[in-house]
Amino acid sequence: MADQKQRPSNKTGRTPLFRLTVLPGDGIGPEVVAEALKLLQALEDRGVLHLSRREAIFGGGAIDATGSPLPDDTLAACLEADAILLGAVGGPKWDSPRATVRPEAGLLGLRKKLGVFANLRPVKAWPALADSSPVRRELVEGTDLVVVRELTGGLYFGRPRGRQARSRYTRVVDSLVYTSIEIERILHVAFQMAQGRRKLVTSVDKANVLTSSALWRELAIKVGQSYPDVTLEHALVDSASMQLIRTPGHFDVLVMENLFGDILSDEASVLAGSLGMLPSASLGTSRRGLYEPIHGSAPDIAGKGWANPLGTILSVAMMLRHSFGLEDSARAVESAVGQALDAGCRTRDIAAPGTPFLHTHEMGDEVVKRLR
Ligand code: IPM
Ligand code: MG
Repeated sequence: MADQKQRPSNKTGRTPLFRLTVLPGDGIGPEVVAEALKLLQALEDRGVLHLSRREAIFGGGAIDATGSPLPDDTLAACLEADAILLGAVGGPKWDSPRATVRPEAGLLGLRKKLGVFANLRPVKAWPALADSSPVRRELVEGTDLVVVRELTGGLYFGRPRGRQARSRYTRVVDSLVYTSIEIERILHVAFQMAQGRRKLVTSVDKANVLTSSALWRELAIKVGQSYPDVTLEHALVDSASMQLIRTPGHFDVLVMENLFGDILSDEASVLAGSLGMLPSASLGTSRRGLYEPIHGSAPDIAGKGWANPLGTILSVAMMLRHSFGLEDSARAVESAVGQALDAGCRTRDIAAPGTPFLHTHEMGDEVVKRLR
């Protein structure tokens, strides 16, 4: 990732100033984003950073207001920002299989237009939550891995794509397309990430079947030669999905194609106790990043105060780290989350069945309270 440009400062000349665009989106998106903003406000109050904030419509709400999930003004606000915080998009209202425009298309368009090809999805087993996972404690304990998902290519974007009515049947096509440039740059992200961690890269593919995977594997070996301190292993995606549950503690950095990453990251989230715990960062060649929890809009619980804001709060930690270069603050946020969990704070998704749980805003308060 390129060096950060000189940052403008506010009047004091000391507090760094960043431009943040906020896209609360649909469903529980606005609820979890509100807690993340509360945390950012607490950091601002302490003089850690100064934000110029803009909010924009996105997703289903934007379709209702303008006909497009990613209106031009929203895209412009994102392109001008140093970081974008996104809640979630989608919901049953916009879900018809025959819909011509879907909220998800806005998300894919935004990722593509921002050029954020590297999606980092860290999965950490929080000690306090080891019993919240359906996977046995002894397997979950010690899990600390990152899924590096290619985000702007592969099956999500390949052409040709479409649906053709024939006289007796309907034919559909999706294409898994990659260039060597796209594959190499995501592999570099994975190897560099591993250098700062436990120095193991697991490259996930389906090289026994797919030509795209054969090239992926070949390039993983080639790129790996530039990182002699990092061990490279290959795993077929079906086998990797099994090993993730059987021996999660083995993995450090996993790197893979867009759809494989979508699937395996949801699977890996089970290790963290709940999908609601997982943050993500999407980065390109600059420091500008898109930050979002990996859970969706959860329309079934929207408005109930049941949503877990920790995935979004941990996404803010990633923003502090990757876009703002504020590593100490990132760690302070992660540590506040850990302390809240250790103290027994639980939202509904991570509470033991039948035990009391905190509402979304209460969990946000518990984290802010523990921020050092
Ligand atoms: C994710 C989501 C999205 C994806 C959807 C909402 C389009 O599942 O970020 O993992 O498939 O990328
Ligand atoms: Mg997904």
